[in-house]
Amino acid sequence: MKVSIVGTGYVGLVSGACLAHLGHQVTCVDIDPAKVEMIARKDPPIYEKGLQELLDANVPERLTATTDLRAAVLDSDLSLIAVGTPFDGQIIDLKFIKQVAQEIGEALAEKDSWHMVVVKSTVVPGTTTDVVLPILEQASGKKAGIDFGVGMNPEFLREGEAIEDFMEPDRIVFGGIDERSIDALAELYEVFETADKVRTDPSTAEMIKYTANSLLATLISFSNEIANLCAVQRVDVAEAMQGVHLDRRFSPILETGERVRPGFVSYVWPGAGFGGSCFPKDVKALVAHGENSGIPMQLLRSVIEVNNRQPQKMIDMLEKELGNIAGSDITVLGVAFKPGTDDIRESPSLPVIEALAAKGAKVTAFDPIARHEAEHVLGDRVIFRDTLEDALNGAKAILLMTAWPEFRDLPEMLAKGESAPLLIDGRRMLNKNSVDRYAGIGL
Ligand SMILES: NC(=O)c1ccc[n+]([C@@H]2O[C@H](COP(=O)([O-])OP(=O)(O)OC[C@H]3O[C@@H](n4cnc5c(N)ncnc54)[C@H](O)[C@@H]3O)[C@@H](O)[C@H]2O)c1
Repeated sequence: MKVSIVGTGYVGLVSGACLAHLGHQVTCVDIDPAKVEMIARKDPPIYEKGLQELLDANVPERLTATTDLRAAVLDSDLSLIAVGTPFDGQIIDLKFIKQVAQEIGEALAEKDSWHMVVVKSTVVPGTTTDVVLPILEQASGKKAGIDFGVGMNPEFLREGEAIEDFMEPDRIVFGGIDERSIDALAELYEVFETADKVRTDPSTAEMIKYTANSLLATLISFSNEIANLCAVQRVDVAEAMQGVHLDRRFSPILETGERVRPGFVSYVWPGAGFGGSCFPKDVKALVAHGENSGIPMQLLRSVIEVNNRQPQKMIDMLEKELGNIAGSDITVLGVAFKPGTDDIRESPSLPVIEALAAKGAKVTAFDPIARHEAEHVLGDRVIFRDTLEDALNGAKAILLMTAWPEFRDLPEMLAKGESAPLLIDGRRMLNKNSVDRYAGIGL
């Protein structure tokens, strides 16, 4: 198929590169000319494992980029909308979605053939049919369901694993206003013969995405609430959670006696809080949407509140052990909101670094991938080091904020040094007995 993708961020670019690799003819559209130029040079504007190889293999034969939305829509059969949907502090901000719907509608006015418009961005239930569809109709002067199709196809990729997730989907959701729209989506993804498909309406498709993210965020905040209780009960939450995980409903036992450890169990684990471009904003948007619809949304409101308090736990532990930290050398390990990505949006590291700097600590940081992004946002509040070893040098305390695999070597590295800095494990990823002075969330 000939596909145009509007919005070339994490979702748009990964989807575009993968769809091109699967044989579709893809044009990525973005308002940012710098991004467009980078893609044309096969230079990935974001870090994502495997993306470089996909650009090398598909640009420019099957994948091109442009700022010209009109031309891209006119020259394609199907358009995916993958622009950002931030939370504006009150509700989901649909300004990018509305702008793009308007421009696609204007292009459709010039088009003779049937065209399929798909919302891929995460939007609250009702957005595709009640916001996007009317704008498309008004701007094109045409009728949805007759002259063009409308659909919603939520994206479930996880940053860091994005290409694998796209290429080996666990499910694909086709939300369409009619059978023809759903069939057009099915055609786009027809190579994924064995993946489970959900054929539904756009609002249900929208709700599936929010429900999945809100459930995972709830598991994390639930674990953190238990962790905070454990910490004042002289109980180690890591041991408590390991005991919980062994419930056969969480980790089923096969006939061979082997345990299966489902992925969701990793969300039932304590830490310094969730971040990223999805969980915080999606849960907040769903709470606001629910409350505007007359539903109190108490549980999900608490999920956010627990999460907002979690980074401060790192500072509390630090001050409990060291007292006044003004002038102390404190090292923060990890700024990305999770391993495998350079995305620092809403990363719990950011409020931790801000708090350390505000208290007068001398903050040093290391992140294997996200340094560039972090320096841009944090400026001179933090000094970045090139290597993990350099970052550890002279530290009075180390705050482990992102579960990068290289941080597993910390016990060995610290054992070689002469000083024994305090290590506070914000991800509970190290053995608590492997470091001289260890503290951690929920311990
Ligand atoms: N990042 C993820 O892991 C993830 C996963 C699933 C779903 N989502 C959802 O997908 C959507 C996109 O997220 P993202 O992380 O890729 O966002 P992003 O901020 O990385 O990318 C959005 C892109 O859209 C471009 N853009 C904005 N207005 C435009 C316009 N008028 N025309 C063309 N381009 C325009 C921006 O320049 C930017 O490059 C959001 O709704 C998000 O919630 C994200």
